Amino acid sequence: MTAATNALVADPPGPFDAIMDITPRPPIVFVAGHGSWLTDSEGRTYLDFIQGWAVNCLGHSPQPIIQALARQAAHLINCSPAFYNDQMIRLAELLVRHSGLHQVFLANSGAEANEGAIKLARKWGAKHRDGAYEIITMDHGFHGRTLATMAASGKPQWEQLYAPKVPGFVKVPLNDLAAVAAAMTPRTVAVMLEPIQGEAGVFEATVPFLRGLRELTSARGVLLILDEIQTGIGRTGRLFGFEHADITPDIMTLAKGLGGGVPLAALVAHRDVCCFDYGDQGGTFCGNPLMAAAGCAVIEEITKPGFLARVVQAGEHLANGLRAISHRHGGGEVRGQGLLLALDLKRDIATEVVDLAREHGLLINGPRADTLRFMPALTVADAEIDRMIDLLDGVLLDVSANRRREAIA
Ligand SMILES: Cc1ncc(COP(=O)(O)O)c(C=O)c1O
Repeated sequence: MTAATNALVADPPGPFDAIMDITPRPPIVFVAGHGSWLTDSEGRTYLDFIQGWAVNCLGHSPQPIIQALARQAAHLINCSPAFYNDQMIRLAELLVRHSGLHQVFLANSGAEANEGAIKLARKWGAKHRDGAYEIITMDHGFHGRTLATMAASGKPQWEQLYAPKVPGFVKVPLNDLAAVAAAMTPRTVAVMLEPIQGEAGVFEATVPFLRGLRELTSARGVLLILDEIQTGIGRTGRLFGFEHADITPDIMTLAKGLGGGVPLAALVAHRDVCCFDYGDQGGTFCGNPLMAAAGCAVIEEITKPGFLARVVQAGEHLANGLRAISHRHGGGEVRGQGLLLALDLKRDIATEVVDLAREHGLLINGPRADTLRFMPALTVADAEIDRMIDLLDGVLLDVSANRRREAIA
């Protein structure tokens, strides 16, 4: 039988067959989004408290991004990273002005920015710290899916994946300053962590820990790298998560919210650390003016007077609603800051809750079997938060009723 006749007897292709199967996606096809709402191909609407995994900081298809992209697309889309362009300069200046750091390398994804941070730290170690290259990272941390960022991450499931692992990462427990101090050796070049571990289930690095790390790294002459890919760009109610601890890192990475939905990331560093030689770092799409224009629009919106105060207020409203839900349904604590929050369900029902919520038109995330995570648009309205709480309340009642029925059967 030829390949052609074989194809004739095989099952007809399904609508998703051409998509590589890397995650269990529900059979829904989204076709439109506006603010906090998504619409699928059947015309059903969904209240979105995932927002592209904390990416659409201004909601779906917000006017500032639409206008910035349309304006920029008509002017200049890409002129090669080997040349300066006006949007790259504008965005780098905005990030420098607001962060207190000095130089920026623009990239396309969080993992790429973190990969750049690891390379910069190793380069600095080679030049200034006698070849030191080891980076201390946190258990359960998440830094991306390239080989080096997977090795930097502390996900137990990744220990054996894609062996051999990139060497040079030492893990310690989050919020254990003594463990960091004990792990430091002459090979140590940096400590790298997220201000809040988002993918792990929203666990905060405490303010004393962050301040202690800043003091310890400065005293030992090693770098402090903050992965602000999830916590940056207003997500916690401040432009950058580190502001809550009143410290400044040596290197910071940004992505997610920075592009307001389009792929954009940044490696931002203190001038003393910026030591790449020509050819050490780069990328065809890095610093392209189309994405940089979107980044400028995002920063300009988020730094408008009152924007971050509203994020804080919306975060408190959401946290209060979640605490009430937790109280009503026997849950545990509400963790996180601003609009990066998690609800401890105290039972391993997160998958069931997420699936049932979706059937009821609500999109939420379950980063752990017993935890729900909420990362709505930073522009979410109180009425949308209230609607989400109502929907979640109903879903939790249904899940409890299902569990009771199963127990009786
Ligand atoms: C803290 C953190 N770092 C890095 C990444 C990786 O970013 P990206 O998926 O854009 O590569 C993520 C993504 O969830 C993240 O939350």
